[in-house]
Amino acid sequence: MLESANTLGCMAPPLFEIEALEVRASDGPNILHGVDLTINSGEIHAVMGPNGSGKSTLATTLMGSPEYEIVSGHLRLHGDEIADWDADVRAKAGMFLAFQYPQEISGVSVRNFLRQAASARQAEEVSAIDIYVAMQEWMGRLDMDASFMDRYLNEGFSGGEKKRNEILQLAILQPELAILDETDSGLDIDALKVVAKGVREVQEERPEMGVLLITHYQRLLSELNPDHVHILFDGQIVESGGPELAERLEHEGYERFES
Ligand SMILES: Nc1ncnc2c1ncn2[C@@H]1O[C@H](COP(=O)(O)OP(=O)(O)O)[C@@H](O)[C@H]1O
Ligand SMILES: [Mg+2]
Repeated sequence: MLESANTLGCMAPPLFEIEALEVRASDGPNILHGVDLTINSGEIHAVMGPNGSGKSTLATTLMGSPEYEIVSGHLRLHGDEIADWDADVRAKAGMFLAFQYPQEISGVSVRNFLRQAASARQAEEVSAIDIYVAMQEWMGRLDMDASFMDRYLNEGFSGGEKKRNEILQLAILQPELAILDETDSGLDIDALKVVAKGVREVQEERPEMGVLLITHYQRLLSELNPDHVHILFDGQIVESGGPELAERLEHEGYERFES
């Protein structure tokens, strides 16, 4: 996709850039050894890689978790360096990580949680009625039962319900960049379909949203059809290509990257 020119005739910066990113665990070893990745508006990028290659480290670092420390490199959102921004500032600026809020929060309903998160994102109080209306609409589109709204966040949620909840958050919070880490979640096919359909629905509404999808599942990629596929191996992107790369991986595995 071509970068769009802004009104001054200059090239607008890409939506998100990762440049020469080196990351270590705060109390441990280096995990990412120079990752480069550029996501333009509206693009879906998939990152695949074997267990332990650094996929979750990448996702968690992008959202600003103190668990990881950036040794060197750059993270830019619309050209702004964000490496020093706290997680909540990144979220307000439009970065979204599914599984960012995985804990059960006793006594906080899905509805109240989302109202709070949407108010933070929009930097103004979202009214109870506005959040209700928005949730009603999206829950209809995502085939969710209305009672879901008043359940306590993540309490007793099945795998599929957790996914629906994440997609609902995505729809309501309207991020600039959605980061979905699907690696460890042991999804069944129905849950994969929920994610794929949900991302497509949200992108229909918000075509400029960029997506960074981290996954083991070729099947999810055939549902979502990413523009670019990257292979992360031992903390580095060792190959990038189109959807055909994911298909090739499905047949060949990661053996040819092992030296
Ligand atoms: N907080 C941490 N402290 C020490 N080592 C870590 C930490 N987080 C991840 N690692 C190590 O970094 C590597 C990459 O982990 P991870 O990013 O979870 O990989 P993936 O998501 O691709 O399976 C693994 O070897 C893992 O053990
Ligand atoms: Mg992982």
